[in-house]
Amino acid sequence: MSKKFRTKIIKLDKRQPQENIIRNASKLIRSGEIVAFPTETVYGLGANALNPTSVSKIFEIKGRPADNPLIIHVADMAMLESLVIKIPPKAQRIIKKFWPGPITLVLKKSKIVPEITTGGLNTVAVRMPKNKIARELIKKSGTPIAAPSANISGRPSPTTAIHVRDDLAGKIRLILDGGSTRIGIESTVIDMTRNIPVILRPGGISKEKIENEIGKVCIHDSLLGNNGRKLIIHRSPGMKYQHYSPKAKVMLIEGPENLVKTKIIQLSEKLEAEGKNVRIMTASKSLNVNPKKIQYMGSTFETIARNLFANLRQADKDNIDVIIVQGIQYRNTGFAIMNRLKKAASTKIDTRPKKNQALTHS
Ligand code: TXA
Ligand code: MG
Repeated sequence: MSKKFRTKIIKLDKRQPQENIIRNASKLIRSGEIVAFPTETVYGLGANALNPTSVSKIFEIKGRPADNPLIIHVADMAMLESLVIKIPPKAQRIIKKFWPGPITLVLKKSKIVPEITTGGLNTVAVRMPKNKIARELIKKSGTPIAAPSANISGRPSPTTAIHVRDDLAGKIRLILDGGSTRIGIESTVIDMTRNIPVILRPGGISKEKIENEIGKVCIHDSLLGNNGRKLIIHRSPGMKYQHYSPKAKVMLIEGPENLVKTKIIQLSEKLEAEGKNVRIMTASKSLNVNPKKIQYMGSTFETIARNLFANLRQADKDNIDVIIVQGIQYRNTGFAIMNRLKKAASTKIDTRPKKNQALTHS
């Protein structure tokens, strides 16, 4: 797509977004244009969800495959009710506990939702964001807003307005700048059309937290490394595409800490001997390499998630050739972080002895 706009970035107060700025942005949405805006997870690329022509612009700008459906963002329950034909009791409990917030519900869609928005599926993914700028924009626009992450397809999701500009300058008119996003990875996507709900994408709300609220939920086979390929294509088309990739090659190393550390040191020495610019992303403070080579990821799942995509993007700015990442634990938000890292990685090395590898994340 050619560049046709001068992209404006406008800063807002995220606690009290300036009304005139929101009003102007909502005018763009109502007139069928595209606006990038912050949510508490990542920045979104928004369009009127009910206007097929507007929604088609999102696919064009991102270079997104047409069968990868969008999440629709709502500001209140009336908007949700207009988009779906029913809200099962477990969905109501999730909404009561976690909305507004980083969890997206897949429900049976109503007739008003255009096919292009759902990639031809008879379900629709809906979420009510917590970020005030996002909520006010939806409210003032008077329409639900379809918004994928505001990156070029395949790149790490944007967590600042600058990340959005780096990917989309010239392709959109307006970026609302609400600072760095708080959570840093995308919402959890959960299919509520089944008796036992299925997590299709781990994210801001962990399986453990959801189960505390509604009892048993499943994790989609494809997320466990089993071969659920056919089902994925049917249930969550986005899962089949390569994702979150910086330009640098990402190598993910997992297994027992001592074996992982040895492997990381060996690998980085070998790559450097080949003349490669190497960075090591780790949550460990005791890796025995030159600290200049290390990008420390953080000490809690929350900080690791918040900085994850920014760290991947920073490596590109620093002309890194290879990012070696030390895997983290799969529990709670660690599961969603590892999901993003696995998708970003073109090489995954499991240092555990072979006979234990089949037990991964069981
Ligand atoms: O946190 C988020 O969810 C961010 C912010 C902007 O809200 N949005 C986001 O959108 O991550 P996107 O388009 O990058 O990811 C949407 C995911 C994709 O994996 C897509 O396949 C899935 O949701 N999805 C959307 N509609 C679906 C549906 N009807 N059934 C199953 N999966 C669906
Ligand atoms: Mg995305």
